[in-house]
Amino acid sequence: MTLWHGRLSGGTADVVMDYSVSLHVDRRLAHDDIAGSQAHVRGLGRGGLLTDEEVTVLVGTLDRVQAELDDGTFAFEPDDEDIHTAVERRVTELAGDVGAKLHTGRSRNDQVATDLRLYAKRELTELAAQVIDLQDVLVTRAKEAGDTYLPGYTHLQRAQPVLLAHHLLAHGWALARDVDRLLATVARLDVSPLGAGALAGSSLPLDPDGTASDLGFAGRFENSLDAVSDRDFVVEALFDLALLGVHLSRIGEEVVLWSTEEFGFAILDDAFATGSSMLPQKKNPDVAELARGKSGRLIGNLTALLVTLKGLPLAYNRDLQEDKEPFFDSVDQSRLALAALTGLLATVTFDSDRMQEAANGSSVAAVDLAEWLVQQGMPFRQAHSVVGGLVHDSLERHVPLAELVEAHPALGSDAVALLEPGVAVTRRTTPGSAGPEAVAVQMGRFAHRLEADRIRVASLS
Ligand code: ARG
Repeated sequence: MTLWHGRLSGGTADVVMDYSVSLHVDRRLAHDDIAGSQAHVRGLGRGGLLTDEEVTVLVGTLDRVQAELDDGTFAFEPDDEDIHTAVERRVTELAGDVGAKLHTGRSRNDQVATDLRLYAKRELTELAAQVIDLQDVLVTRAKEAGDTYLPGYTHLQRAQPVLLAHHLLAHGWALARDVDRLLATVARLDVSPLGAGALAGSSLPLDPDGTASDLGFAGRFENSLDAVSDRDFVVEALFDLALLGVHLSRIGEEVVLWSTEEFGFAILDDAFATGSSMLPQKKNPDVAELARGKSGRLIGNLTALLVTLKGLPLAYNRDLQEDKEPFFDSVDQSRLALAALTGLLATVTFDSDRMQEAANGSSVAAVDLAEWLVQQGMPFRQAHSVVGGLVHDSLERHVPLAELVEAHPALGSDAVALLEPGVAVTRRTTPGSAGPEAVAVQMGRFAHRLEADRIRVASLS
């Protein structure tokens, strides 16, 4: 029997049920749906719409339904269109007549919005914690890396040497912004829609403030139309996860590059690599490639919901049911990507000899020569041209750059010392730069931020 059999006669066509059913998707909201219903029941009790005994019976029955769902004995029925319908049906079967009072003053419109916000609060907080775990691995690896340096690239051409720690922390700071965004989204969505009804509130003495605090929300909705039609929080979550996915894709791409024979900077642990069905010698970075590839899907999920919402009139429209699949998919994919990349980065071996060898070419210190000339009083543009000319001659005439520097009247043997392997990176001394002293400071600030974010997440969990 449908929830609307009083109004519509003759039954619903099978295809309508097939088309509109969402139970396979929204059953993951069961826990939040039951929590929402229990808060609603207590609110009805405070408003005198249920006796204390009825409240006890309904709350207890909802606990039983939860237990059935947990132990797998809950039997879904073909008419259970969504999780809300299924739970209400079962409550009525178990509790008898009082079950028919559960939905008093409530609509599935405020109900589903409440469930989804409870779910989002929890999941986004857990995702933020997972991002912090990944950052933790990055900072651990950065500490282990010590003074190891590698070429920093622009345009994927060797540019200047940077500490490996600096490179790893660069990804760490991007992830810190992801944590911040996820927690800001959680703070903004922390509003209960329960009590908005179908769209306009109720004539019954409901208690939206009370149910909001009962459910742990920071407050209740201000406008019932907005409460049932707002999916900004899902869009924001999808954006946060899409950008997180983009950040993971950039890490993934570097792992792919670094583990090639051409680079040889990284050797994947066997547990985080895959083989080939045909080529016996292969060791492939599939995890890193999926981190790169799945970012497309996360962006797609964001786009899908934005397009669904575009032009929707107030208030609830069934289109809104399409919010859950992309959201749940992005949550699941982000969790898997974070777990897999965290494991990969915790176990990867960095080949510091290969990295340093690649960074020891004398031309990566070219800017140090120019800066040395600047310190002797030469204008930078002129210094740039002098050193550029020497690099050009060195390549054209196949003469080592050091020889040309030694022979140059404005440079000489003091300047040659700048070309020694490992020297250039030590000369990056400005705040936030890639050299050892600045990176030591950065590492301290990063660890501090990480600790503060851990505390923020713990206070929400
Ligand atoms: N399954 C629906 C959803 O996810 C629940 C709300 C249904 N409301 C309605 N008026 N048909 O949006």
